Amino acid sequence: MRQFVVAGNWKMNGSLEANAHLLEQLKSQLDNTTKAEIIVFPPTVYLAQIQQICRDTGIKWGAQDASPNRPGAYTGEIAVEMLEDFACEYVLVGHSERRTLYHEDDVMIAMKFAHAKRHGLTPILCVGETLHERKQQVTETIVKKQLDAIVNLADSTDVFKHAMIAYEPIWAIGTGLTASPEQAQSVHHAIREHVATIDKTIAEQLTLLYGGSVKAANAASLFAMPDIDGFLVGGASLDAHQFVEITQCIK
Ligand code: PGA
Repeated sequence: MRQFVVAGNWKMNGSLEANAHLLEQLKSQLDNTTKAEIIVFPPTVYLAQIQQICRDTGIKWGAQDASPNRPGAYTGEIAVEMLEDFACEYVLVGHSERRTLYHEDDVMIAMKFAHAKRHGLTPILCVGETLHERKQQVTETIVKKQLDAIVNLADSTDVFKHAMIAYEPIWAIGTGLTASPEQAQSVHHAIREHVATIDKTIAEQLTLLYGGSVKAANAASLFAMPDIDGFLVGGASLDAHQFVEITQCIK
């Protein structure tokens, strides 16, 4: 049985006051009818606050990014070892905003993925194509290339064990456009098949999230697809009501 997940990527949003308000709303509105694991990804400076509010609740937390290096002279970076101090269990790796705005390439992302795993964190690898690439019909080629970068750096076939993958078409992120359930399912299926060429059992158990303008209105039809195991939610994760409604699709 695969683990279902609804994760909220807050991106560079929030304040002490706004976070407290959002989490109090989540704590009171989330019910145990959802089968999803709930994870929030706040800006790193708020992890201590999130840990304090969410410990002993069903809400887990993680970081939006982490360095591939051990602690040292890397001004502005956050080490995985530091995330351990705040009981983070998860880290996003290779979000498209990191790839495009901060020029993180596949090798850098593979190093981050490997380093997070070495320290026992569960990386959520984000993959996805641009609109131009979709129009060129190279979506699967692009996504497989992003996966292969991770595989090539790894020294074992269990590279995707204790990890998750989020398929996030770049053209759907923050645009209000969503991949149709069929479009998303077809890429999710291709991802699972590709991982199966390395390890069938891991592929079968691998949690595959969809991200890109997920809202309460489209979550149920996406989750109905056999290879969609939950969501990585951006904008709608800042709205407690929307976020809770999305979690309620996972039953
Ligand atoms: P969105 O963002 O839900 O606002 O489209 C998703 C993401 O970037 O993870």
